[in-house]
Amino acid sequence: MNKESIEACLAGKRNRSGQACLIPTEIYYYEITDSTNARAWEETRQSTGNGALFVADRQNNGRGRRGRSWVSPSGKNIYFSLVLRPKLKVEQVSMVTLVMALSVARAIERYTGAKPGIKWPNDILLQGKKICGILTELKLTGNQMDFLVVGVGINVKAQDFPRELAEKAGDLESLCGRSIFRSELLAEVLHCFEQDYACFLEAGDMSGLREAYQERLVNKDRQVQVLDPQGTYEGIARGIAATGQLLVERLDGTLEQVYAGEVSVRGLQGYI
Ligand code: BTN
Repeated sequence: MNKESIEACLAGKRNRSGQACLIPTEIYYYEITDSTNARAWEETRQSTGNGALFVADRQNNGRGRRGRSWVSPSGKNIYFSLVLRPKLKVEQVSMVTLVMALSVARAIERYTGAKPGIKWPNDILLQGKKICGILTELKLTGNQMDFLVVGVGINVKAQDFPRELAEKAGDLESLCGRSIFRSELLAEVLHCFEQDYACFLEAGDMSGLREAYQERLVNKDRQVQVLDPQGTYEGIARGIAATGQLLVERLDGTLEQVYAGEVSVRGLQGYI
């Protein structure tokens, strides 16, 4: 994978009106960097950029959710960050991560034929193994949204995961039993995202994408434990609201809306 191969794969993609894709507007490629989210943040802080893509072959300070690190060896995986500047209210922003999760799942399905699931809000799973994580970071000016960095890590090739992840993580090539060209898959993800993001922006919420998202939702109709700072409770996940919250039916039949970021949701038997 390099900048030229990514550009060549993107050149073959057309949107619904037959035009070349608008995303990305430009590409920054690194053989090695600390974190593509950090690079995107630094480059965009001083600009009005929208749609730039930051890709690395290796990260030596890859960032995961909840302050964890994201192991990012060279030659194996896809690490990218996309800068977006939508006119959204802060409370709408968490939905962009759900949109990206759906686009990654769709792209993997188009490319490999395998149908990944989504663990709400944004882990992508294949055969129960996490193959992709998404970290969205938001730059505020006062209480207005300035820009977003949507960072995506996709495990593509076989690798030794750290011991604590070995049970939970997997890679696409081993799980699909075929080889994957990272530039091609990345171009497919961006192509799917362009369509899904346009649909999201038009509605201002997930209403046009909700069905497709729920079809892939691995938590659906399963028992979950909601780790709410106000108190942990159990229930059955029923789907998502048009505004992206997980809908959890409590044992007494009441329906809770669970907001991403504030709480975490666990399966009762392990990860899902
Ligand atoms: C998670 O914890 O599930 C989210 C992981 C997100 C990792 C990606 S890799 C590309 C981008 N750059 C980073 O430093 N993190 C994200």
